[in-house]
Amino acid sequence: MGFFAWSAPLFGRYGDRWSPETVARYRDWLRPHVPPGGSVLDLGGGTGALARRLAETLECRVTVLDPTPEMVVQMEPHERVTAVIGSAEAMPFENATFDALVISDAFHHFRDQEGAAREIARVVRPAGGVLVLEFDPSGWMRLVVLGEKLLGEPGAFFTPAEACAFFSRFGIEGHCEHEPGGRTKYYFLGTVARPRA
Ligand SMILES: C[S@@+](CC[C@H](N)C(=O)[O-])C[C@H]1O[C@@H](n2cnc3c(N)ncnc32)[C@H](O)[C@@H]1O
Repeated sequence: MGFFAWSAPLFGRYGDRWSPETVARYRDWLRPHVPPGGSVLDLGGGTGALARRLAETLECRVTVLDPTPEMVVQMEPHERVTAVIGSAEAMPFENATFDALVISDAFHHFRDQEGAAREIARVVRPAGGVLVLEFDPSGWMRLVVLGEKLLGEPGAFFTPAEACAFFSRFGIEGHCEHEPGGRTKYYFLGTVARPRA
């Protein structure tokens, strides 16, 4: 059984870890891209805890795409949240389906990050938003990186500067900053390029 299959009940129980202030921050970042009634993809959304919160605060529809059925079955039903089983590297969506995309604590798990970035730039509409929430592997987070490796999940982590440079290669321009309250977590907030005229 894989890492996420066995850890799914833990995510189901303790995964809803976003304070109202944090959710409000994400809402303010995403609102320029997501109108009420718009659509957001939560890629690697697991048990859907963040998806539910975004659906409520942004008054939008959220699709969770995740390859681990054991995670997805933990989802509490929500009228504006839909779950789809699938992987970042081959998403079962038309081009430009979403106004924005969120990835929380999942990008470092994607085995083919370049393939995933190409798919992100395809399924998010031009000028749509991309919010990636990640851990900074420098400092004491190295221990978490090592711990995940020992548990059989070898993540591929980027520093904030590496993340910005990486997404830029796929036409997703943005900036990275540490989240308030420490240097362990950062976000990349970007925009998918409009096609050249
Ligand atoms: C640490 S969990 C985070 C779940 C959720 N985003 C959260 O913040 O609670 C990482 C998730 O990434 C998913 N995942 C792993 N590889 C993936 C891939 N190639 N494409 C999409 N999701 C993937 C796992 O199934 C798991 O649900």
